[in-house]
Amino acid sequence: MKIIITGPKCSGKSTIGAEAAKRLEIPFYETDGIIEELYSREHNDKLNFYEICEKLGEAAFREYEKRAVKEAAELDWCIISVGGSTLMDSDSRRLLRDDSVIVLLKADLDILWERLKNRGSSIYFSRPSPEDYFRDVANKKIEAIEPFADVTIDVSDDKDNPGKFISAVTDYFAVLSKSPNTQGQVIRSTTFGESHGDAVGVVLDGLKPGIEFSAEDIQSELDRRRPGQSSVSTPRSEKDKVRILSGVFEGKTTGTPIAMIIENKDQDSTKYDIIKHLFRPGHADFTFWKKYGIRDHKGGGRSSGRETAGRVASGATAKKILSERGVKITASSAEIGGVKSSSYNENDIEANPVRCADKDAAEKMQQAIMDALKNGDSLGGIVELRISGAPAGLGDPVFGKLDARLAGALFSLGAVKGLEFGDGFEAARSLGSEFNDQMKDNDFQTNHAGGVLGGISTGQDILIRLAVKPTPSISRQQETVDIEGRSEKIKIEGRHDPCIVPRIIPVVESMAALVLLDCWEIQQRLRSDI
Ligand SMILES: Cc1cc2nc3c(=O)[nH]c(=O)nc-3n(C[C@H](O)[C@H](O)[C@H](O)COP(=O)(O)O)c2cc1C
Repeated sequence: MKIIITGPKCSGKSTIGAEAAKRLEIPFYETDGIIEELYSREHNDKLNFYEICEKLGEAAFREYEKRAVKEAAELDWCIISVGGSTLMDSDSRRLLRDDSVIVLLKADLDILWERLKNRGSSIYFSRPSPEDYFRDVANKKIEAIEPFADVTIDVSDDKDNPGKFISAVTDYFAVLSKSPNTQGQVIRSTTFGESHGDAVGVVLDGLKPGIEFSAEDIQSELDRRRPGQSSVSTPRSEKDKVRILSGVFEGKTTGTPIAMIIENKDQDSTKYDIIKHLFRPGHADFTFWKKYGIRDHKGGGRSSGRETAGRVASGATAKKILSERGVKITASSAEIGGVKSSSYNENDIEANPVRCADKDAAEKMQQAIMDALKNGDSLGGIVELRISGAPAGLGDPVFGKLDARLAGALFSLGAVKGLEFGDGFEAARSLGSEFNDQMKDNDFQTNHAGGVLGGISTGQDILIRLAVKPTPSISRQQETVDIEGRSEKIKIEGRHDPCIVPRIIPVVESMAALVLLDCWEIQQRLRSDI
């Protein structure tokens, strides 16, 4: 994450940026300075950037500017002052927007003009009408940059602008960390909607323009997730038809946000009225109430599994892009209610309602779910996720490790209580000589680690297992409290999945796809040869 400070001439980018960086104890850079350094490295000659521009001419100077932007885009945890004209170039803007906060300094143009007159600048004062030229350029810069600015600060007065800058950026980060509805850094997927509201959906941002995009690909993944498909899923019957609202033109992405909406058609809120003041054991009712002091009790609101429809819509896109790059992501039920799969035939997974790769075990799993349902109960299980074809090099040490990112995304799903990579918890019982994946002939001999070393993919299959808890909403009577803390009995009606494992499978694949694509895009910015 980096902070880009920009604005029209004399808005104080360098002074405010440098002072704020000093107070925050982080480095400060200027793209102009990077250009000067590049030039001096290559020509063994120290010139300031005005002189470089004059000497090389506009076109060659812009090439230097583009290279400086590329260098700046790779910097982290720093403040970078970027000239307004640099950000008017769409390629530079795209590069600098990734993983950054853009702060635009704005001020009354009369004040900026006064500052410029006092300071002087040959670029402006060599013009026939310097003031008109200055106003025209400043307005154009603001018009082009303002829509992309994350934070705008008025610096018309000189009252502690670095302090103003720090507090505006801090507020922005605080809001970011309080709105965790977005997954990803470059490929960003923001879900919205509640179980019994009008719709759920997603805004998918960060995809390059020109990528083939078809509603059918998304629909087929949504059909895998949708409820009411079999006796082992909730009887809520939703068609889950996706509507694409933006970001796609003539079957291709345009590079702008893709908004997708899935309407809720079969919600039945009547069953929730009697438990309006009660907390369902095992669900998020109690914690949402404690956190917000208000909750949408109908269908669990945002804590409902229905929220995951939006994730599947964006995940389907990521999965398709990755499959074109040779990556295959497949999840299946490895265990349900204590019944374990003992063989793996990928073609069987979608051929049975529990999505198990062992068709004999699948029948027993299905029976176990039906038995639990008859008893007013529910079952949990284990999902196995296999990712093949991911290249070595994905994931960023230390806080962006691939395993940490995948775990974060998968743990963001309701009902996921445990997760292991490769041998996982068995590693704790192994000897180093048993667990280490030794290498020979330019390859690994085993895959105990699960395809990730040091937070970076090894190029082997990435193997993950997830423990999924039994569905919290069960029809059997349970003990709970109401919102005043008084003891009560609760019997949950409504329509629920008796086992979440089969339904979570397409969502697990989607989350893994979103993380992998994001890591891939990040890696391409580091080394384009991957
Ligand atoms: C795809 C999916 C479907 C789910 N279906 C149900 C359901 O029908 N009934 C229910 O009580 N919980 C269901 N859940 C689980 C709850 O959303 C989850 O347990 C709850 O929000 C509490 O969060 P936690 O389990 O992470 O603590 C589902 C979760 C997912 C991911």
